[in-house]
Amino acid sequence: MTAPFRPRLPTAVLAALAWGGAAPALAQDGGQLNVICSVQAEWCNMIQTVFARTTGIKLNMSLKGSGEALAQLIAERANPKTDVWFGGTGDPHLQAAEQGLTLEYKSAALPQLHAWAQQQAQQSGWKTVGIYSGPLGFGYNTELIAKKKMPVPKTWADLLNPVYKGEIQVANPASSGTAYTMIATLVQLMGEDKAFEYMKGLHRNISQYTRSGTAPIKAAARGETTVSISFVHDGPGEAAQGFPVATITPSDGTGAEIGSMSIIKGARNVDAAKKFYEWALTAQAQQFGAAARQFQLPSNKATPLDPRIPDFKSIRFIQYDYAKYGASAERRRLISKWEKEVNALPR
Ligand code: F6P
Repeated sequence: MTAPFRPRLPTAVLAALAWGGAAPALAQDGGQLNVICSVQAEWCNMIQTVFARTTGIKLNMSLKGSGEALAQLIAERANPKTDVWFGGTGDPHLQAAEQGLTLEYKSAALPQLHAWAQQQAQQSGWKTVGIYSGPLGFGYNTELIAKKKMPVPKTWADLLNPVYKGEIQVANPASSGTAYTMIATLVQLMGEDKAFEYMKGLHRNISQYTRSGTAPIKAAARGETTVSISFVHDGPGEAAQGFPVATITPSDGTGAEIGSMSIIKGARNVDAAKKFYEWALTAQAQQFGAAARQFQLPSNKATPLDPRIPDFKSIRFIQYDYAKYGASAERRRLISKWEKEVNALPR
């Protein structure tokens, strides 16, 4: 008789399995779960493997940016194929809640979470919950910036310097939650008129608006652009792979995302979805972010913190109004204004 096939697991996963005390089991008749995953692939793959091994529930995973995930859920509304949406910026999760796309579910684990994660749940009528947070800032290629004799940008205004013409990448807000967080941050920081004037000026220095929010920092790491506008927790993972990339948060103030998780209303596998949701809120499961070299701040207060997670205390944050900027009408309005007034301009 041949031995059953067991996929090889990265050391970090094996360590986590051992730490969690769960005996590895092959996914068998534990059912299945369809998950849209809006964090980076390594983390998605890790939770897919570990959750299947520890529960026997097969996890079918589809990777999508925050805006794209919301578009898919809207398209599936009459006949949902997704059970859980894991990760991605919080604003489209709030929008999904507002549009009745996600299920009201109040976890008993909520008191174990940071206040910002609980607030996200409360603001949505318990239709989503915060699973991590991360500050917006800039990434830059340390070698290129030195070679081209450019200053390291320290403020939002610095990015308007003509020296960066064609040297900056940021994502497109229609598909990316990172880019929408930038628009919402600038509007709150400067006021709407000044923020749009600012983005028109910035547009002249942008080489490319990418589909995914993490593409610009990957491009900076690989020397394909000099500067990126990115969540700064996405920098250390690139640096750990040996790329010459560093990050900085603007000294004039910045916003942060509340990465979220929602169960889909009408989910076919609702029991498995709740099981996954509870698991994903545990301190054990929240360690998989750092194990997969992704350094957002986990929402469960008991999760051990990797030193590469940004130090929130040293960052100047704006008072981000998550309810206002997570509202459907506001998000749609700001993105279409950006399309018309900024993206349509020649560069
Ligand atoms: O996975 C990295 C990450 O920066 C998350 O922290 C964030 O929620 C997500 O990407 C946003 O991706 P996008 O901008 O493509 O929607």
